[in-house]
Amino acid sequence: MTARRPLILGNWKMNLSLAEATALARDLKRQVATFYAGPETGVCPSYPHLVAVRELLEGSTIGVGAQEMVEAEPGAFTGGVCAEQLRELDMRWVLVGHSERRQYCGETDDGVAAKIRAAFRVGLTPVACFGETLAEREGGQTEEVVARQVGAALEGLSAPQIEGLVLAYEPVWAIGTGLNAEVDDVKEVHRLLRGLLAERGGGPVAESVRILYGGSVKPQNIAAYMACEDVDGALVGGASLDAGSFVQLLRYQEDGA
Ligand code: PGA
Repeated sequence: MTARRPLILGNWKMNLSLAEATALARDLKRQVATFYAGPETGVCPSYPHLVAVRELLEGSTIGVGAQEMVEAEPGAFTGGVCAEQLRELDMRWVLVGHSERRQYCGETDDGVAAKIRAAFRVGLTPVACFGETLAEREGGQTEEVVARQVGAALEGLSAPQIEGLVLAYEPVWAIGTGLNAEVDDVKEVHRLLRGLLAERGGGPVAESVRILYGGSVKPQNIAAYMACEDVDGALVGGASLDAGSFVQLLRYQEDGA
């Protein structure tokens, strides 16, 4: 067993009204307050809800992160939100390179690398997301694609910076589709990621980095993924939008889910 503390993050994406987001935060705070110090926990609401949700979760063990940011420093960038602004709001994490950003917003490997540096500029923890499409998996390119994406993200980072990262492997075809990746396939990709971290940062650094799995993670399947040696948590979309199911995910160790 490793000493990496599991991390479970809810990615609320572009869902929920303000009233729904604050109700969910209240509900989570109430339910999570009643149980043990389990995995490190966070939620990533959409921008207009960040402050209200963070204020509601104050005094709880649930942190708040953002789903995206611009790498530029504060200045003329209409519509953008930068790392400094997220830091000021006390965000703990920022997702970078989510496949929906790669797919719909033209996010590139270089863009992800720049956002990781921007997060480090202000002391935010970047959660860097990677994963292959269905065509790439069917074409036998999973390892190549993931290695390329991760290699670009790690390029030029110092060992202490690598240590400050969280990685998330999310096969694109498993996100929001209810299609579950085979546990053995997930295990293999996470082992590959650990190896890439070791090549760039050295063994002890690689051992300290948390690698999350994401893609239709549910209370029914989380325990199987979490049982893999190199899976250190989950990035959860759909199942994080309901307090009951998110809390069940957090209790995966107790329930055997
Ligand atoms: P999902 O989303 O759990 O709804 O598949 C995961 C994600 O996109 O982070």
